[in-house]
Amino acid sequence: MKLQTQPLASALRGELTPPGDKSISHRALIFSSLARGESQIKGLLQSADVAATAAACQQLGAVIRSEGIGDQQIVHVLGTGEKGLEKPALPLDMGNSGTAMRLLAGVLAAQAFDSELVGDASLNRRPMRRIIEPLSRMGARIEATSQGTAPLRISGNPRLRGIEYVLPVASAQIKSCILLAGLFASGKTCISEPGQSRDHTERMLPVFGVKLEPGCCVAGASTLSAARIEVPADISSAAFFMVAAAMVPGSQVLLRNVGVNSTRDGIIRVMQDMGADVTLINQQQFGEEPVADILVRYRSGLQGIDIPESWVPSLIDELPIIMILATSAQGITRIRGAEELRVKESDRISVMASGLQILGIRLQEFEDGIDIHGGRLGSGEVDGAGDHRCAMSFCIAGQVATGPVSVAGATHIDTSYPEFAQHLQSLGGDVKTLLPGETHIHHA
Ligand code: S3P
Repeated sequence: MKLQTQPLASALRGELTPPGDKSISHRALIFSSLARGESQIKGLLQSADVAATAAACQQLGAVIRSEGIGDQQIVHVLGTGEKGLEKPALPLDMGNSGTAMRLLAGVLAAQAFDSELVGDASLNRRPMRRIIEPLSRMGARIEATSQGTAPLRISGNPRLRGIEYVLPVASAQIKSCILLAGLFASGKTCISEPGQSRDHTERMLPVFGVKLEPGCCVAGASTLSAARIEVPADISSAAFFMVAAAMVPGSQVLLRNVGVNSTRDGIIRVMQDMGADVTLINQQQFGEEPVADILVRYRSGLQGIDIPESWVPSLIDELPIIMILATSAQGITRIRGAEELRVKESDRISVMASGLQILGIRLQEFEDGIDIHGGRLGSGEVDGAGDHRCAMSFCIAGQVATGPVSVAGATHIDTSYPEFAQHLQSLGGDVKTLLPGETHIHHA
């Protein structure tokens, strides 16, 4: 799918609630499926990635139904109890979702049945040794391709042993995978990581009655009981409009009920450090997760900054859109310590660098980051490479470019934000789908 944008003649204005947080939505479904009794989830993200997790949970025996529509929708999950999962009749298809595959691998490694996890072409290229290695130390038996990628064939072992594991990279997916396996293992499972990755698992497990011991440890043979979860709006989706409002002169945009957990809020700190006008109002809690309305008002004079490496885990998914913001700042914005970007849904450093160069931006690419020089975004045809966050980032760039920008490879936006184009239009932005055959940029 191809999208096309036109530069805006007027400001972005308005307010909206971005869709539910993707990370929290996956966890809410998986933990509810493992729990005894019926859990209720409000604000669950309705997207392709989360649908893959829901379908897998159903194949494993959870009963999922939803009630109401829009922001009133409640998803009810009747869990199987931690011992009640059923052997799935078919391979579990995780589509594009690394979180779904890695978290469920932790659960499935500990079951009394065999299973298989498969994904799409992008997911089948992503590294899985990072979970296979620690799970194997716990006694799991997982077969991957010779490159250490999915499909994953899991021979279930209900007698896993707890481990103490030091993560080689700050990763909430690896951490959560091992903690989930640890719930079924004998003894304790403890995790430490080189940087603080998102902590939604640690916040949510106690809501399901699982005690987390100091040092990020879970006890084996833990039981989960049903819970009520309210999912905040996803800061990773809000980020596109936060940045758009900071770039389009005269804009004022309010994003409601956005999760502002300190392990996810790096985008706010970066924007404020660059000189953007970002204010948090109406701060409250959705269960264990802090939320706020985020108000962004356009202010001229953004400055490039060196993003501290220690902030990277708290803004890892926002780096593509931060690269777009960097083009409207004076001077250079430097990103380092972000080699993980190369193994996301695409190699995000390379995909963003190629697109930005096509749009006329000066930059230097590094193995673990990029330097971006502020400059005028031009018109052109760029490739989102089937990566939702890169495609949406280029659409935001198009709002302030000197001419039309067409974005190929935009198919997977529905993995995290199916309403993206509609929400952008509701704020006064310009984006349309190019129909097959309609490949040309119409110059004004
Ligand atoms: C996620 C963790 C991050 C993030 C991903 C979602 C999660 O990945 O990039 O989009 O929900 O745990 P890593 O754990 O690989 O850093």
